[in-house]
Amino acid sequence: MANLRIPGPTPLLPEVLSSLSKQMISHRGKSYEKIHQEVVENLQYFYQTKNPIYLLTASGTAGLETAVVNFFSPGDAVVFFTCGEFGNRWTEIGRRYGLNVTQIKFKDGTGVKKETVEKTLSEMKDVTGVFITHNETGTGVLNNLFEIAPIVKAHLSKPLLLVDSVSALGGVDLPMDKLNIDVLVSASQKAWMSTPGMAMIAVSPYAWEKHQKSTFPKYYFDLTKYEKFAQKNQTPATPAVSVLYSLQASLNIMKKEGREKVFARHIELRDYFRNEIKKLGLKLLVEDFEASPTVTSLFPPNGVDEKNWRNLLNEKYNLVIAGGMGDYKGKIVRVAHMGFVTKSDLDQVISAFKKSLVVEQFIAP
Ligand SMILES: Cc1ncc(COP(=O)(O)O)c(C=O)c1O
Repeated sequence: MANLRIPGPTPLLPEVLSSLSKQMISHRGKSYEKIHQEVVENLQYFYQTKNPIYLLTASGTAGLETAVVNFFSPGDAVVFFTCGEFGNRWTEIGRRYGLNVTQIKFKDGTGVKKETVEKTLSEMKDVTGVFITHNETGTGVLNNLFEIAPIVKAHLSKPLLLVDSVSALGGVDLPMDKLNIDVLVSASQKAWMSTPGMAMIAVSPYAWEKHQKSTFPKYYFDLTKYEKFAQKNQTPATPAVSVLYSLQASLNIMKKEGREKVFARHIELRDYFRNEIKKLGLKLLVEDFEASPTVTSLFPPNGVDEKNWRNLLNEKYNLVIAGGMGDYKGKIVRVAHMGFVTKSDLDQVISAFKKSLVVEQFIAP
């Protein structure tokens, strides 16, 4: 089996794999409702929230679109603080729907700076929403919401704070209620170590007030319908039942481990991996203080074509890693360490790097 080290989908634990062989059930019946309720409650534990969490049968991008269309109306002034391709993607969704978008871009490979957030917001009188990517998967940057959220929440126009944590939540500490995050989006195939197909979106009571005034047209993503069905632990349309099976299994395992331990494990693996990469003499893209606990970007050595290197790693060493995106397309490789991953998986990555670069003389050592 390949060592799958892309930032989602992630490998599945045996218990999660076997959950996928269960027979289908009625999504309007008691058995389904029980699973739905359990999944939502366990998600609330990791989101650290009492807010409702809606399950959308769709990928993470749909969660981002749901966040745009449910809480705003055409022409509303919003700010996107971005530092890579996934921030750009969310901004583009906002633009296409006709929000009055200000995008504040930070250089790819660096994170959103609180001083800039403070300055930008102090110069804006009316801002209805602030959008931030928690973990920019395109570069491997973790934005510090503990610093940024209070600044957003102190603004006089009381904007909503909307956060994309598609590639961190479940593996990284982001207490929704404590930080007053209004809308928090994640997706099943990342640190949740489940199958792809489910976006999860949590909504604060304040965001719900805004939802009731939103005039964007919406149908599949209309959260009013999701709320109505959530009362019965159901979804408005047919849910991906098998994804729920796998989420149920993975969340039970994660809950047994305990969220603090899960978060600590991700940080430990990040530090271990970055240290090993430094020892190999390879250059990391992101500085230590804003490095993601779930994905690490690094430069191939001078003279090594990243695509050729990834192909060699895949074909000869059974290791699958990701390439760069946006400004860093063709320039970096990305290694994920989220969800079901051990130190030994990362040792295999390091060993494949060493062998491919030095032993095979893929480049002159
Ligand atoms: C931060 C972030 N946001 C959004 C997405 C989009 O998710 P999906 O590919 O599930 O639509 C991704 C996917 O990698 C992501 O990492």
